[in-house]
Amino acid sequence: MPKIVLEHVSKRFQKFTAVEDLNMVIEDREFIILLGPSGCGKTTTLRMIAGLETPTEGRITIGDTVVFDSEKQINLSPSKRDIGFLFQNYALWPHMTVHQNIAFGLENLKWPKPQIEARVKEMLQMLKIEEFDKRYPSELSGGQQQRVAIARTLAPRPKVLFMDEPLSNLDAKLRLEMRIELKRLHTDTDSTFVYVTHDQLEAMTLSSRICLIKNGILQQFDPPMETYSNPANLFVADFVGNPSMNFIPAKLVSADGAKATVEFFGRRFAFEAARPIGEIGAEAVVGVRPEFVRLEEGEGQAKIYGTLPAGMETTVKLDVDGFILTSVKFGNVDYKLNSDMNFSIEGDGIILFDKQTGKNVGRGRVTPL
Ligand SMILES: Nc1ncnc2c1ncn2[C@@H]1O[C@H](COP(=O)(O)OP(=O)(O)OP(=O)(O)O)[C@@H](O)[C@H]1O
Ligand SMILES: [Mg+2]
Repeated sequence: MPKIVLEHVSKRFQKFTAVEDLNMVIEDREFIILLGPSGCGKTTTLRMIAGLETPTEGRITIGDTVVFDSEKQINLSPSKRDIGFLFQNYALWPHMTVHQNIAFGLENLKWPKPQIEARVKEMLQMLKIEEFDKRYPSELSGGQQQRVAIARTLAPRPKVLFMDEPLSNLDAKLRLEMRIELKRLHTDTDSTFVYVTHDQLEAMTLSSRICLIKNGILQQFDPPMETYSNPANLFVADFVGNPSMNFIPAKLVSADGAKATVEFFGRRFAFEAARPIGEIGAEAVVGVRPEFVRLEEGEGQAKIYGTLPAGMETTVKLDVDGFILTSVKFGNVDYKLNSDMNFSIEGDGIILFDKQTGKNVGRGRVTPL
C-alpha cells in the first residue's frame, strides 16, 4: 500500500531554507493538498517526494520502500518510485493524436497491444474525451487538452499521482468542472493524490487533508473542515476561508481552566472553551468567522459600513467603533449605508488566539458580561 512517510525532511538552497524539518504521513488513497502562499515550498516538497529534487536531510518512504535517506545515502530515481506527474504546463506531444498521447507511456512500459487499446479506451471514457480520439492537441480547447494530460498521466495506473497546480491555466468555470472530475477520478482510481495549489477554495473542496505551509514550515495538517473551524494559528485562520475570519484585538482580564474573561469592543465577555485554555498573555485576538456574526439582534451596536450582495449571500461590513467587522447573511440584503445595526457573536466556534505567539489557545463561545 503506497503510504508516504516524510521524516525530518529539509531542503536548503545554499543558505536559504525552502523546506524545514517536515514530518508528514500520507495514508494510502488520500487526497492531500499542499497549500500556502507563493514561495512557501509546495513545489519543492512535491518534487522531493517524486524524486526530482534531492532533500538536504531526512527520509522518505513510499509504501514499503525507502526512496530517500540522507544518512544511508539512498536516493531512488523518479522512474523507480511508481508515480505519475501532472504539472502546470501539461505539454502534450503536438505531433501525436489524443489516442497516441495516452498510449505512448504504456508502449514505453511495454504493455501488450490489446491491453494498451483497452486502457486507452477506458481513459477516453473516464475523461469524456472519446470524440477527440483522433484529434491533435492543437485542435483542442485548453480544458480538453488538460483532460488528455490527465488521461495520459493516469493511464499507467500510478500508485501515487502528483499534481502541481494542474488547473491554473483554466478559466473559472472550467476549473470548477475539472475539480469535480478530479474528485471523481480520485474515487474511481486506487491512487493516492498529492496536489499543490495556492487556492484555498480548491484545497477546501478537494482534499481529504490540507497540508498548510508557511516559509517552508508546516503549520497544520488536518482535514479541511478542521483547518477551517479549528485553525492552529492566526496564519492558518487568515489563509483559509473567504471572506476571511475577523480578528478582534482583545485584552485578557483573567483565565482559569476552560474559562476566561476578555475585553473587546469596549466591554467584557466570558469566553468558555471546550477544553482548558492554553498558555496566553495579556494581549489576545478573538477570531470570529463571518457566519458567526448574527445581524439585527443582540447587544452589539454598529453602523453599516457597506454591503456586497452576491446573489446567494451578502457580505455585510459593520463599523464597530472604527473596527470593521465582517458578517455574511444568506440571501440578498441591501442595508442603507451608515444605518444603525445590532449584532451578536453566536455559536461555539469562536477562537481565542494568543497575540504574541499567534497560537490558537481555545475554541468556544463568548457571552457579554
Ligand atoms: N533551485 C533553486 N535555487 C534556489 N532557490 C530555490 C530553488 N528552487 C526553489 N527555490 C526557492 O525555494 C522557495 C520555495 O520554492 P517553491 O517552488 O517550492 O515554492 P512554491 O510554494 O511552489 O511557490 P509557488 O506557489 O509560487 O509555485 C522559494 O523561495 C524559491 O525561491
Ligand atoms: Mg510552485
